[in-house]
Amino acid sequence: MTLIDGKAVSAQIKQEIAAEVEQIVAAGGKRPHLAAILVGHDGGSETYVANKVKACEACGFKSTLIRYEADITEAELIAKVEELNQDVDVDGFIVQLPLPKHISEQKVIETIDYRKDVDGFHPINVGRLAIGLPCYVSATPNGIIELLRRYNIETSGKKCVVLGRSNIVGKPMAALMMQKATPGDATVTVCHSHSHYLKKECLEADIIIAAIGKPNFVTADMVKEGAVVIDVGTTRVPDATKKNGFRLNGDVQFDEVAPKCSFITPVPGGVGPMTIVSLMKNTLLAGKKAIYQ
Ligand code: GUN
Repeated sequence: MTLIDGKAVSAQIKQEIAAEVEQIVAAGGKRPHLAAILVGHDGGSETYVANKVKACEACGFKSTLIRYEADITEAELIAKVEELNQDVDVDGFIVQLPLPKHISEQKVIETIDYRKDVDGFHPINVGRLAIGLPCYVSATPNGIIELLRRYNIETSGKKCVVLGRSNIVGKPMAALMMQKATPGDATVTVCHSHSHYLKKECLEADIIIAAIGKPNFVTADMVKEGAVVIDVGTTRVPDATKKNGFRLNGDVQFDEVAPKCSFITPVPGGVGPMTIVSLMKNTLLAGKKAIYQ
């Protein structure tokens, strides 16, 4: 069994990005600039955004954090998005989700200029991903593809089960795994809360990508000997032994599943660090105008 070290791979990629940024700047080019909008004080979002800002520093990017209280109106938020669309210094930006209930996330996402949508959430980027055109790809699925690539994990012709059908992870993950590409070329099944034979589907899978947000959902009796298991789960569960009072729990019952696997990602230290580094990669592409002019 090989433990996939997302922390080490992400550190390596950050170094690669930082080296490229210094080359760009030394040649007289522009330092990539990521802006992030954070609304309210959700604990998870605060942590994610702080980590994104920190990663920008490690990569040599300029970053701007724009904060609003949870009572900001939808119109005010939309106006800020439109301002960032026009700001020539900002190469890419994100609006951290979830947003307060009185704001339509979809409306906000669709207001973002798709050429600056480094989250890959805009329908134009999602549609381009679906038909295999260059685009910004959602960070978590892209990070998982990068892990499969760097660990030389064979995906062509393999049976891959994606657990979960969210717009951010499950759907783009399935699209990438079925893409005519390497990694890719897999036979993909997407399972969700209404799937009838979920356990049977998992047992037949060469690769399981668990993104349902249910701690310890994937147990040893669902996993075939030699399978590759990627755990996207990051549920916060109370833990008095931790400084911040909680720990992150994956979707996979790691202790019992790991011995059966050829490869498995831990939580934390697997997919999580790759998600942020994928956003950094998209920001570098945005800075270079590599996908859209
Ligand atoms: N909330 C959870 N994941 C994400 C993400 O990747 N981007 C944004 N903007 N919000 C999120």
